Amino acid sequence: MAEADPAPSTLHVAIIMDGNGRWAAARNLPRTMGHRAGMEAVRRAIKAARELSVTHLTLYSFSSENWRRPVTEVNELMRLLRYYLRSELASLHKEGIRVRVIGERKKLPADIIDLITHTEELTQDNKELTLTLALSYGGRQEITAAARGLAKAVERGQLQADAIDEHVMQSFLFTGGMPDPDLVIRTSGEKRISNFLLWQSAYAEFVFLDVLWPDFEIAHMSEAIAEFKRRDRRYGATVGQA
Ligand code: IPE
Ligand code: IPE
Ligand code: MG
Repeated sequence: MAEADPAPSTLHVAIIMDGNGRWAAARNLPRTMGHRAGMEAVRRAIKAARELSVTHLTLYSFSSENWRRPVTEVNELMRLLRYYLRSELASLHKEGIRVRVIGERKKLPADIIDLITHTEELTQDNKELTLTLALSYGGRQEITAAARGLAKAVERGQLQADAIDEHVMQSFLFTGGMPDPDLVIRTSGEKRISNFLLWQSAYAEFVFLDVLWPDFEIAHMSEAIAEFKRRDRRYGATVGQA
C-alpha cells in the first residue's frame, strides 16, 4: 500500500498591526483615519500572504485591553470591522480563504457576532489560506478561559485531571487545532507582545518593523519572512539537532 502523503508543511505568520494612531497624528488626522488606512494595509497583508505561500495568517485586530479606549474610537473600530466583513466576504471566499475569529466574541456587538458566525461557516472548507482575526483577544483571557473549560470538564467527569497535558491544554484554547505561529511581526517600532498569543508563540521568531501599520507593504512581509528563514530555530536543542 502506498504511504500516506506527509502532512503539508505550514507557515503561520501572525501580525501585531500597530501604529494606526501615530500614522494619523503625523498627518494631523483623527485616529480613526489611521484605522481606515490600516484596513487597506490588511488587504495588502492578505495579498502578501498568498504570494509568499503563507498557510496561516493571524491578525491582531482588537485586544481585550483595547476596550479601554474612548467609546468613539471603539465604535469606529467596530464600524470598520462590520464594513470589512460585509464588503470582503465574497472575495475572501472566492479566493479560497478560510476565515476564523479568536477572542472573547461575546463582548462584540450582536450583529458582528452573527456576521462572524456566517463568515466562518461559509468559508470553513476553504484551503488556500487560513485567515484568523484576533478580536477582543487577550492571551491571558484565553488561557484563563481554557483553565475554566478544563475545570468544568473534570467537574463533569469527562476528563481526568492527570490526563491534562500540553496537547489537551492546547485543544481548549481559541486556536485549538491550529499550528503555532512560526513568525510574529510587530509594526510601529514597539517591542512588546501586548497579550498576543502568549501560549502559542512559545517558540515563534519575532521580527519588529519600524513601519507604521498603514504603511505596511508586501515588501515588508517578504523581508520579514526572509529574515525568519535566516534564523536558526533550535527549540532548546543544540545547533543542528532540531
Ligand atoms: C493599532 O494601532 C490598531 C489597534 C490597536 C486597534 P493603534 O491604534 O494602537 O496606533 P498607535 O499605537 O496609537 O499609533
Ligand atoms: C496591540 O496594540 C493590539 C493590537 C494591535 C490590536 P496596542 O497599541 O493596543 O498595544 P500597546 O497598548 O501599545 O501595548
Ligand atoms: Mg498601538
